[in-house]
Amino acid sequence: MKWLRLIGLVAVPFALLLMAIGLFLFARQGGFAPYRLPQDSGRPIAHDAATLARGEYLARIGDCEACHTAPGGSAYAGGRRFATDYGSIYSSNLTADREHGIGAWSRDEFAHAMRHGVSRRGPLYPVFPYEHFATLSDADIDAIFAYLRSVPASAHVPPDNRLTFPASWRGALVLWRMLHYRPAAPAATMDDRGRYLVDGLGHCAMCHSAREASGALAVDGYLAGGRIPGSGWYAPPLDAKQLQHYSIDQLADYLRAGVADSGTAYGPMAEVVYRSLQYLNDEDALAMARYLKSVPAHPQHDSGFVLLPEPARPSVAGNGADIYRRACADCHGKDGEGEPGRYPRLRDAVATRVPDPIDAVRMILYGGFAPTTARNPLPYSMPPFVQRLSAADIAAVTNFVRENFGGQHSSLTATDIQAMHGIVLD
Ligand code: HEC
Ligand code: HEC
Ligand code: HEC
Repeated sequence: MKWLRLIGLVAVPFALLLMAIGLFLFARQGGFAPYRLPQDSGRPIAHDAATLARGEYLARIGDCEACHTAPGGSAYAGGRRFATDYGSIYSSNLTADREHGIGAWSRDEFAHAMRHGVSRRGPLYPVFPYEHFATLSDADIDAIFAYLRSVPASAHVPPDNRLTFPASWRGALVLWRMLHYRPAAPAATMDDRGRYLVDGLGHCAMCHSAREASGALAVDGYLAGGRIPGSGWYAPPLDAKQLQHYSIDQLADYLRAGVADSGTAYGPMAEVVYRSLQYLNDEDALAMARYLKSVPAHPQHDSGFVLLPEPARPSVAGNGADIYRRACADCHGKDGEGEPGRYPRLRDAVATRVPDPIDAVRMILYGGFAPTTARNPLPYSMPPFVQRLSAADIAAVTNFVRENFGGQHSSLTATDIQAMHGIVLD
């Protein structure tokens, strides 16, 4: 019987400790409060033209329509697919349809979903950027709600999510929240318009922050750059160091035009500019630029968080310089200096300078398009080279441009490039 007492002596404190940790984590994600849907307070919502216009503007900055519209589907009727490591998630119908949309929701229910990520359906998947929307003001949430009420109702039923167990069970999200969700202090960003927009509606951190292996935002990875989950792109850090080549005015222009002397938007950033940021008014574009240029560089700025596995290998620029001269220099210039407003310079460009080579490889394989915007109605594009150059040549030219114009040690091989041929995640 002695051993039983011994087990008791160890097991009971251990169980108590586990319980205490569980309670602590549960309290940290907000306790029970997020799971209690609010009563309708009956607070009236303004529906005047000015409120609707403001709601439409804010919804654009939040990029709600892009995520909540399926390709070819009606606006806000949901059904856009998002690939995750656990399977596919489909966005919801946000139109005023009472059965399939949010027509039967109260204003308070909507605010609750935006701030806590919980709706009638239970806890919501964090593809919905509620982690970022939590800081929105009441007035902004009300204006967006009023605007959504004004878009044509659609009875479209988005497909069911296709996820593997346990991710398929919404209850499992409570555990995810305990481990990864730290609710933002409400209105923490209210006194800085730029930060309010970047951290809140703009949800820039969703792509531009570092993530842990689980895919959750890293606690100390704020705007530190990283691979975007479910997508073969790397988003660079956004801080004073990364953005040193832009003046505040130039950065505000980049956000709205999609091009500037110091950079050009492509891949997912081109979509963000096209759908959302090109509509920023002067004041907001400047406020965002001012804030971004004030973010201190992360201590790991230069090493980055998520890299392709790159053991120390010798550089293999090989005939990269030759290929560059023949295939690239016409547009990007003999010394990677580019041609302002038309072809981006490669010297110190995002794709040549960031620690992860994926953006460079992907641009060279498949080419790219800058977004068409009011400020840049006829953008230049980059042709794909996947048919014109062998994998070995693409490796060589990538190594050449990253080493010579970005100061990055680069030793990609044909095999690395072939492994990246399959990047068709988005
Ligand atoms: C990056 C893509 C993305 C963006 C941007 C986005 N959403 Fe969503 N949203 C989703 C997905 C995906 C879901 C479904 C989540 C789920 O099934 O758990 C969702 C769910 C919701 C829900 C819950 C609906 C329900 O029936 O439970 C609301 C409300 C919502 N979004 C509002 C908005 C608003 C308002 C904006 C803009 C300010 C917005 N979303 C921006 C992807 C997005
Ligand atoms: C869907 C993912 C995604 C979102 C959301 C996103 N970005 Fe980006 N962003 C990228 C990627 C990928 C790049 C790198 C490609 C490029 O330079 O266009 C990028 C590049 C940039 C650059 C160029 C940096 C440089 O050094 O030249 C700036 C500035 C920027 N983003 C600002 C923002 C801001 C501000 C927001 C929020 C309003 C935002 N991004 C939201 C993916 C995203
Ligand atoms: C016909 C002109 C043209 C040619 C030829 C061309 N590019 Fe480009 N390149 C562009 C344009 C335009 C962009 C910007 C595209 C965008 O914004 O989507 C670009 C973007 C890039 C980028 C991303 C730059 C950044 O800001 O991060 C890289 C890297 C790149 N090109 C490398 C190359 C290499 C290597 C070659 C030769 C194998 C090449 N390009 C050939 C026009 C060209």
